[in-house]
Amino acid sequence: MRLLVTGGAGFIGANFVLRMLQRLPELELINLDALTYAGCRESLASLDADPRHTFVHGDILDESLVGELVARVEGVINFAAESHVDRSIEDPDVFLRTNILGVRVLLDAVRQEEKKHGRKLRFHQVSTDEVYGDLGDSGDYFREDTPLAPSSPYSASKTSADLLVGAWRRTFGLDTVITRCSNNYGPYQFPEKLIPLMIWKARRGEKLPVYGKGLNVRDWLHVEDHVDAIWEVYTKAGSGAVYNVGGSNEWRNIDIVKRILAETGQPEELISYVADRPGHDLRYAIDAGRIRRELGWEPSYTFEDGLKHTIQWYKEHDAWVDALRARVES
Ligand SMILES: NC(=O)c1ccc[n+]([C@@H]2O[C@H](COP(=O)([O-])OP(=O)(O)OC[C@H]3O[C@@H](n4cnc5c(N)ncnc54)[C@H](O)[C@@H]3O)[C@@H](O)[C@H]2O)c1
Repeated sequence: MRLLVTGGAGFIGANFVLRMLQRLPELELINLDALTYAGCRESLASLDADPRHTFVHGDILDESLVGELVARVEGVINFAAESHVDRSIEDPDVFLRTNILGVRVLLDAVRQEEKKHGRKLRFHQVSTDEVYGDLGDSGDYFREDTPLAPSSPYSASKTSADLLVGAWRRTFGLDTVITRCSNNYGPYQFPEKLIPLMIWKARRGEKLPVYGKGLNVRDWLHVEDHVDAIWEVYTKAGSGAVYNVGGSNEWRNIDIVKRILAETGQPEELISYVADRPGHDLRYAIDAGRIRRELGWEPSYTFEDGLKHTIQWYKEHDAWVDALRARVES
């Protein structure tokens, strides 16, 4: 099977590419990535001599390139996105271009391939639980039929993409699936996101900035469990399916930060409370019952083990972290 993966030099995409090529000897992946500040070619260095991995440096907005690549594959899994909420508040435009217009380009390339050559391709959109908005203090959970109510420019752009996928399916008959996952953590995550940023700062004895009082709750899932869920959905789900993916693992930000400090042997005095993010959603929590029941997917990591493993990975990859931090600091 040969697939086009987009954004495969980013955090989740790189984990997908590395893990799936290791698990599945018959799989071939074409990996299209624009190498934005968040893309890291070095994360894939172990595949340099692997003929099953073809890296293409390019933009999902490039219609002719995307058309050429789609003509060579049996399906598309789209990881490419601008993914950092804080950046979307500062400068939403690039989020609208990549996360909405880029998805339109990918969907149309699949559509054209079907129209011209009668080949049916599956399109998998990697979405997020942030499309559902804020649970506040309701104690409720996101289900697949929870109304879409995004809060940030990032989540609004991801919601728009989900709506485009639904429209291209209904209007043009595309074979599409969508997964909406909770917060991921694990190796190769860009050190501007909560867990790798806190690990990096704690290890250097720097202040750890925590938004507001640190009471925002997220449901955390190890990236390898997410990658496995994507594969289950891509290969087994019925056409048009939407699946939530989550770890039933809710943590307040402040408790994660304290745990990282404990694991790295640093004092809680390093915590520094900073002004809250505008529009900051209080709580996300996923009901992942559907993917568990229908596809038999289960997370394999406990959060305690996953976090220890992640801290260890960052300790062993200082050069990788320093190179990426240099990009945000320059
Ligand atoms: N990180 C999470 O916790 C999380 C949770 C749920 C869903 N998601 C979704 O998963 C996907 C991957 O997230 P991530 O955390 O790996 O993101 P990331 O920011 O680490 O990586 C994104 C990748 O996309 C590439 N890219 C950006 N714009 C591009 C363009 N125009 N053309 C081609 N490539 C482009 C970047 O170079 C980078 O390699 C995103 O769609 C995100 O919305 C992420």
